[in-house]
Amino acid sequence: MRRALVVGNWKMNPDRQTDAVALARAVADGVTDLDAEIVLCPPTIWLSAVHAAVGDRIGLGAQTVNPAPRGAFTGEISPTMLEGLARYVIVGHSERRAAGETDDLVARQAASVQAQGMTPIVAVGETADQRAAGETLERVLRQLGTVLDALSAGSGPLVVAYEPVWAIGSGTPARGEDAQAVAFAVRSELAARGPSLAHDTRILYGGSVTAGNADEFFAQADIDGALVGGASLDAEAFIALARAAG
Ligand code: PGA
Repeated sequence: MRRALVVGNWKMNPDRQTDAVALARAVADGVTDLDAEIVLCPPTIWLSAVHAAVGDRIGLGAQTVNPAPRGAFTGEISPTMLEGLARYVIVGHSERRAAGETDDLVARQAASVQAQGMTPIVAVGETADQRAAGETLERVLRQLGTVLDALSAGSGPLVVAYEPVWAIGSGTPARGEDAQAVAFAVRSELAARGPSLAHDTRILYGGSVTAGNADEFFAQADIDGALVGGASLDAEAFIALARAAG
């Protein structure tokens, strides 16, 4: 059995470090008895303070990274800089892709995160137009394939987050069975690359997940957890959601 994984993606919130630390503390206090693995991804600037407050008790992740180890990249953060602070790094979030990040860059980010001993959470998903055109699986598998091509066999753990772009922040999640169909296709693609990759990789669903609808996703055979945006900014709501994962 894969251990359930619930990831809070705080995006560009909260405004103040004291609020970030308080939110992380409240979440850490509320999930101590859970079997599920709980990970918070604060803005990078809050990562050190959140790590100092709760880093031993729950997992932390970064929201993106530059794949280069160092260099002339103004404003960027390298994987090396995250060492000791983050176990996970989200790569390929649709909000980053919308800002110009390509499949190729996401693949290099994932490889670089693994090389640094962290686990990439690779976000994939179709837009509303692609969905309407029946291109969901093609789009998702192309995004995933570019990443898998860049990773060497046995290079380290991987998490894939299926996040339909139209479901993110919209209040309209995918239907559980539709998310399962995509997760199954992702699992099959992983299996084609190696049985242990398919067995070990956790596949998350993300896009308007709340405590009220999480059960529908956690009940699916190929969905091992959730990537949560809005509902991760309220400790009580996020803890209730995490409890649904067990
Ligand atoms: P949401 O965001 O839960 O607010 O839809 C999910 C995400 O962007 O990862």
